[in-house]
Amino acid sequence: MEKCSSVRHVAIIMDGNGRWAEQRGLPRSEGHRQGAETVSRVLEGALDLGIEYLTLYAFSTENWKRPVSEVHALMGLLEEFIDQKLPDFQEKNVRLKTIGRTSGLPSGAAKKLLRAVDLTRNNRAGTLILALNYGGRAEIADAAAALAKAVAAGKVHPEQVNEALFSSFLYDPEIPDPDLMIRTSGELRISNFLLWQLAYSEFYITDKLWPDFTAGDLVEAVTAFSRRKRRFGGR
Ligand code: IPE
Ligand code: IPE
Ligand code: MG
Repeated sequence: MEKCSSVRHVAIIMDGNGRWAEQRGLPRSEGHRQGAETVSRVLEGALDLGIEYLTLYAFSTENWKRPVSEVHALMGLLEEFIDQKLPDFQEKNVRLKTIGRTSGLPSGAAKKLLRAVDLTRNNRAGTLILALNYGGRAEIADAAAALAKAVAAGKVHPEQVNEALFSSFLYDPEIPDPDLMIRTSGELRISNFLLWQLAYSEFYITDKLWPDFTAGDLVEAVTAFSRRKRRFGGR
């Protein structure tokens, strides 16, 4: 596969698991299970394309509104995913990271997640970032709180605050802004994903439901991206 130099970071709103299951008369949890399979395929596709960062929106700060049984199923799948995939990450040299309010996750899931993040921290083939208990507004509010603390402690002066300094208080300032944001299942909204970082990302929306999304669909999205003219407000 040809390496793609212009797309460093792809961020995906993995949506449509529930509808995929409902269309088949299956429980929603089965859609989430299939969705986890898609994650493996898409990660491989991203590595083949030379994409350095792949961020996947896996659980939002709003998803707690769902029935406890569904939340429980999702957290169980997260633990299973980490258990199953950790050896693959090591073998394929993939670094795992997470963004979100990790401490608000069930402690078992949080522990597994942070352990996998730690064990893979020196891997260099690519970075998979799982957005878990993540909200764009929560991230900005958390950054503002951290910045306010730094000001109160005399480490930062209010006059120094600019976009670059503010960015350094986000969950993981090392991660570049996404070049391309993909949303599956045809919904035309951001749903509180990466509000700060998506300022100039290209959007690609597909009607395909996440369990049906393939590595080929990722190639298609990246190809569409490569035809876009990014102006960043210039001309
Ligand atoms: C995306 O699929 C997975 C999560 C939000 C965790 P959904 O569960 O939102 O599926 P739909 O949108 O109901 O089809
Ligand atoms: C966005 O999907 C969150 C994730 C994919 C984790 P939702 O299904 O929760 O978003 P809405 O409710 O359709 O906006
Ligand atoms: Mg949805």
